[in-house]
Amino acid sequence: MNATGSMGLSAAVRPCCRLLVVFQKCPCPPSFSPSLFPKCPHHRLGDLRVLAAGRHRHPSLVRAAVAPAPSPDAAPALRRLSTSVNPVPGDKAFDRIYVQGGLAAVKPLVIETKPEGDVKEPAPEAPVEAPPEAAPVREESEFEKEAWRLLKRAVVNYCGNPVGTVAADDPGAGPLNYDQVFIRDFVPSALAFLLKGESEIVKNFLLHTLQLQSWEKTVDCYSPGQGLMPASFKVRTLPMDGSNEAYEEVLDPDFGESAIGRVAPVDSGLWWIILLRAYGKITGDYGLQERVDVQTGIKLILNLCLSDGFDMFPSLLVTDGSCMIDRRMGIHGHPLEIQALFYSALRCSREMITVNDGTKNLLRAINNRLSALSFHIREYYWVDMKKINEIYRYKTEEYSQDATNKFNIYPEQIPSWLVHWIPEKGGYFIGNLQPAHMDFRFFSLGNLWAIVSSLSTPRHAEGILNLIEDKWDDLVGNMPLKICYPALEFEEWRIITGSDPKNTPWSYHNGGSWPTLLWQFTLACIKMGRPELARKAIAVAEKRLSNDKWPEYYDTRTGRFIGKQARLYQTWTVSGYLASKMFLENPEMSSILTCEEDLELLEGCACSLTKSAKSARKKCSRSAAKSQVLV
Ligand code: GLC
Repeated sequence: MNATGSMGLSAAVRPCCRLLVVFQKCPCPPSFSPSLFPKCPHHRLGDLRVLAAGRHRHPSLVRAAVAPAPSPDAAPALRRLSTSVNPVPGDKAFDRIYVQGGLAAVKPLVIETKPEGDVKEPAPEAPVEAPPEAAPVREESEFEKEAWRLLKRAVVNYCGNPVGTVAADDPGAGPLNYDQVFIRDFVPSALAFLLKGESEIVKNFLLHTLQLQSWEKTVDCYSPGQGLMPASFKVRTLPMDGSNEAYEEVLDPDFGESAIGRVAPVDSGLWWIILLRAYGKITGDYGLQERVDVQTGIKLILNLCLSDGFDMFPSLLVTDGSCMIDRRMGIHGHPLEIQALFYSALRCSREMITVNDGTKNLLRAINNRLSALSFHIREYYWVDMKKINEIYRYKTEEYSQDATNKFNIYPEQIPSWLVHWIPEKGGYFIGNLQPAHMDFRFFSLGNLWAIVSSLSTPRHAEGILNLIEDKWDDLVGNMPLKICYPALEFEEWRIITGSDPKNTPWSYHNGGSWPTLLWQFTLACIKMGRPELARKAIAVAEKRLSNDKWPEYYDTRTGRFIGKQARLYQTWTVSGYLASKMFLENPEMSSILTCEEDLELLEGCACSLTKSAKSARKKCSRSAAKSQVLV
């Protein structure tokens, strides 16, 4: 958990007036008010002292322009190779989403109809045919019944409608911010509800978080990008302006400005896109993703991810703690989890973006980035016995485009645990890659999502599952699944975590076991035709989850103890378990989240666009890219 609550900070979080128009869908009477939050008035029965003065965020911190549009003339010719969303010379600029000065945080008015002339590209994958209701009905086990009771108890309402689930409902522990709806935590809840045929909560969640996206957000006089999605939000009940009797509900998002360490929730927007596609595929309600405001939301997220910076790699550059691991853990730079979610979100966006003149360049930028990203990760993040042996024999300080050791990795970096741990069969994607730095830790979510999204080749995907099977005691043990392996210990723990007492070795993010990861594991197993592996992991979890009161995480090398500071009745533990069971029962439903290998993407590898005969370029040619799949 990573927040201290949002009171007392001078962060400006407010919708602009036009944004309130969007809330006319709220079932409560629309209120046009200069308040800080989207609101829905009602009369509250309970005690409101807790919502004392001082909560209102500073309204005067209005942000300036998000990003001025660069002049197309100023762009050098080489920009044609860029995978960014910035327009290239001579190209008609895609539907611009830059917000110019004065209009910051103003989202286009919502018009729910599709503009005429827009053509929707047919989704590359067939829509999911079988509605969940059609699946053979099986009597739910007692575990499942309990899990459903808990999941329903976790539902949060806003203006009388369900909009999400709290992170945890542990009566024995202070809420901290576990009483908020976390974007990433809600994903397995959303899937469980969708698979059960209950889609309203998911639709509400998608639309309300979309509104939060464009709020002004300020952290110490600095405004993060407009497309940023919050890490979490809370429904608060506040006295209505000038009234002692009337109260209203408001949504109060946390974009990281209250989070411990002020971490940026980079994964939120990526999960939002992934969930949006899943919602469309399972409900057939493609109208939602076609809405103008939803299309704008997708573009705002992509704009943040695709804009040019100082990056030398196609992978997304982020600060530490910008995903599920939301504390300092040495995952700044280009962590695998973010890359896998980024790839997946790009694939999903490509299916959902309405094709028209205004989006052509964006779609091209997406394709270019997908090609470059998959090449980069497949080529440089993958390790197995053979690759480790190559690194072991690397020459260093090579200066040329032909360098074999491109990132100047000193072989001494290969950790001693890995020398013994890497199996003969199988392999995995390393946790991070930077100049002269490979983080060899195994991170479960990144590896599993690489399989689900087809960022990995089928051969890699098999290799990862083989490794998990081979290292079952280390990665599953008494509770699936280790968040990462191995733990940072001794000096490494002191230096890399900053002596974090929550992330001690084999606890929490530092080698703890997180049952919520079961659902991603199940999806990966189903995709690779190995459901029995998922069943085995679920059976391990079933032995303990209910007795242990559905904890957030487990500690020790093999996951024997309930985590030192773990919350009980953690919602994504509950919903992750339910989603896993339901996917196993209806494996065809996993296609709402998976993507298949796209050979055209490999052919489009940005490097192959150049006609240069230099051998370094040839290495990244069409055939090299294809060989990643076929080998
Ligand atoms: C912890 C986890 C984070 C999760 C949050 C709410 O901070 O690290 O991933 O979203 O708790 O459950």
